[in-house]
Amino acid sequence: MKVYSINSLLSKGKEIISNQVQISGWVRSFRSNRFIALNDGSCLANIQIVVDFENFDEKTINQISVASSIQVLGIVAESQGRGQEIEIQAEKIQILGTANPNEVQETILQPKRHTLEKLREQAHLRFRTNTFSAIMRVRHALSFAIHNYFNSQGFFHIHTPIITGSDAEGAGEMFHVTNFDLNTIPKDENGNVDYSQDFFGKQTNLTVSGQLEGEVATMGLGKIYTFGPTFRAENSNTSRHLAEFWMVEPEVAFFELEDDMNLAEDFLKKVIADVLEKCKEDLEFLNTRYEQEQKQKPQNERTEWNLIEKLKNITEKNFHRVSYTEAIEVLKDSKHNKKGKFKYPVENWGMDLQSEHERYLVEEHFDAPVILYDYPAEIKAFYMRLNDDNKTVRAMDVLFPGIGEIIGGSQREERLEVLKQKIKDFNIDEKELWWYLDTRKFGTVPHAGFGLGFERLVLFVTGMSNIRDVIPFPRTPKNAEF
Ligand code: 4AD
Ligand code: MG
Repeated sequence: MKVYSINSLLSKGKEIISNQVQISGWVRSFRSNRFIALNDGSCLANIQIVVDFENFDEKTINQISVASSIQVLGIVAESQGRGQEIEIQAEKIQILGTANPNEVQETILQPKRHTLEKLREQAHLRFRTNTFSAIMRVRHALSFAIHNYFNSQGFFHIHTPIITGSDAEGAGEMFHVTNFDLNTIPKDENGNVDYSQDFFGKQTNLTVSGQLEGEVATMGLGKIYTFGPTFRAENSNTSRHLAEFWMVEPEVAFFELEDDMNLAEDFLKKVIADVLEKCKEDLEFLNTRYEQEQKQKPQNERTEWNLIEKLKNITEKNFHRVSYTEAIEVLKDSKHNKKGKFKYPVENWGMDLQSEHERYLVEEHFDAPVILYDYPAEIKAFYMRLNDDNKTVRAMDVLFPGIGEIIGGSQREERLEVLKQKIKDFNIDEKELWWYLDTRKFGTVPHAGFGLGFERLVLFVTGMSNIRDVIPFPRTPKNAEF
């Protein structure tokens, strides 16, 4: 007797017919007191267990119901039914956990179509559904593909801190970390909070990005990447924003902006190609879901490709590289703009692009992923390298169809004096960044990196439309359940 997961059993197929095996899982359905569809999460497919009820006591049979968990010992046999090569003739069934059918009725475990909203409300149970478990397996494969990519290219994985004293993006969207009793916060003589009495002896927050620490590490290790949780207290209740999300941030010494763009493009292509290869079954399933969803949309909102084609397209097509200045011209001259179809009309050079503009460029104008670069300094973070024109910085954003910004990156300002001036212009306390500035004093070098919003990649690859559906337990404004 050997213990198998359903995935390993199915991949053996006919090879193990007549073997005695043991598997465990949750009952998806039980038909005619004879056929159990069992799933253990190892893959999308269920295995059929055939029960000869004469051989089992009534109590056991009665306890087998949707959502209950069982362990089965049985003989692998050629399947009589359609769809599957093999099934298991049960010899012994042990009930691990029962599930009251009346209570199951109230949950998303009830085998019928549920809305994604309902799945979110029962996020603790949605791992048992086909859709969410497929998404989670793809998410895992993407994570693995990312580590694999960087490892194979000689990058070192660095764990940057989650609690920091600096605001890397300077956007002031931080969650504070304290162990003060919030009812009696110590104040100094001026009535300001006295952080010297707080746990770390200073004001601290959850990190918004591991970049600054990542840059420091690069200045000794050459090529690093981080892959950690990041937190933003931005009150954006959209289908693309989370308050807690995972970010992948490579950083490379002796890299300039063009190298950075090349890395970002190659990285996205390879990671997506890897998952197309490894997650065939789950992606086929998500593809069917995607196609059904498209059919329900009005004709003009449908995409011309199905999910798999859309992913293959990314791995094959070159990304368009367009400067911010060129993009503004394209947008300004577009029919869309002239007909007043943008919520934020495009008029002046210097404006920040909204996601409607990004999506217009990617989905309507270029019909391919776009890398926008050389943005106005004023709308980007302090650490980006200033161009000779003194008004743009060496920034780049990668924009994807249906998503908008998936990656944000830049070449970093490596010149001490220019950086100090920028820090001043942005009203940042230079003393807080003494350690960051040190790297510009002791053997500074050109370097560049970027940040990929991991959930935005999972969103794109799974063809889902709400970021809350691609992370196990989403944190969004007014929502931190589970
Ligand atoms: O563009 P951002 O803010 O860049 C940085 O944080 C840089 N420090 C990265 C770097 O150069 N090392 O964020 C990077 C990416 C965005 O492109 C987006 O994909 C994602 O992180 N992102 C979010 N994803 C989900 N929810 C949010 N609230 C996000 N904010 C940014
Ligand atoms: Mg950005």
